[in-house]
Amino acid sequence: MTATSTDRVTDAVKRRYNRIAPFYDLVVGRAPIKWWELLWSKVEGKKILEVGVGTGRSFQLYPVNAEVTAIDFSPKMLSYARAKAQKHKLKVNLLEMNVQKIDFQSNAFDTVTASFVFCSVPDPVRGLTEVKRVCKPGGKVILLEHVRSENRVAASLMDMVNPLAFWMVGDNINRRTVEDVRASGLTVEQVTELAAGIFKLIEARKPLD
Ligand SMILES: C[S@@+](CC[C@H](N)C(=O)[O-])C[C@H]1O[C@@H](n2cnc3c(N)ncnc32)[C@H](O)[C@@H]1O
Repeated sequence: MTATSTDRVTDAVKRRYNRIAPFYDLVVGRAPIKWWELLWSKVEGKKILEVGVGTGRSFQLYPVNAEVTAIDFSPKMLSYARAKAQKHKLKVNLLEMNVQKIDFQSNAFDTVTASFVFCSVPDPVRGLTEVKRVCKPGGKVILLEHVRSENRVAASLMDMVNPLAFWMVGDNINRRTVEDVRASGLTVEQVTELAAGIFKLIEARKPLD
């Protein structure tokens, strides 16, 4: 089978995350934990899927009685998450998996969460469509993301700088993630502005059949 351009970009982004894994907590550890707290205060139900778990920034916030499965396509990021889970004796099912091709049956989870993931997924609508598929009908999807600014000047600057950001860390700084969520067929219920007109908490729901 021949590799598609999405496969090639996916491999390149995965390699970048493998490379930055040792430094990840030093950088992201500085972002305000209250954003992650807000996300986790909104989860519903017992069966939770965290997509793009990274090094496990959210571990401390998992609801006590939840059954959490957490996936990431970067084995290096996962190795840090595994060490953290072991250190804190956290029960979490950690698996290597690409969000663009989730290996779970449909309608499996009450809530699916992701924090700062869809900025680097090569085909975000495909990933979000997979998220919708594995979420139960009426289930919740909650995303913490940075997105393209609504300010035209700032947005143009972001478009200009994006190739450099992508080359450096595999991150797109000009994604229209709220629109991508809608394009996947999820219903956007609320978008909460967190900072600078670009950091947002997006709450969506899978329509009932
Ligand atoms: C910016 S980090 C965020 C990590 C964590 N969610 C956090 O809040 O600190 C993005 C994570 O998403 C993962 N990721 C990116 N694209 C992915 C994909 N297509 N499938 C699965 N994981 C992916 C990366 O490996 C990385 O661990």
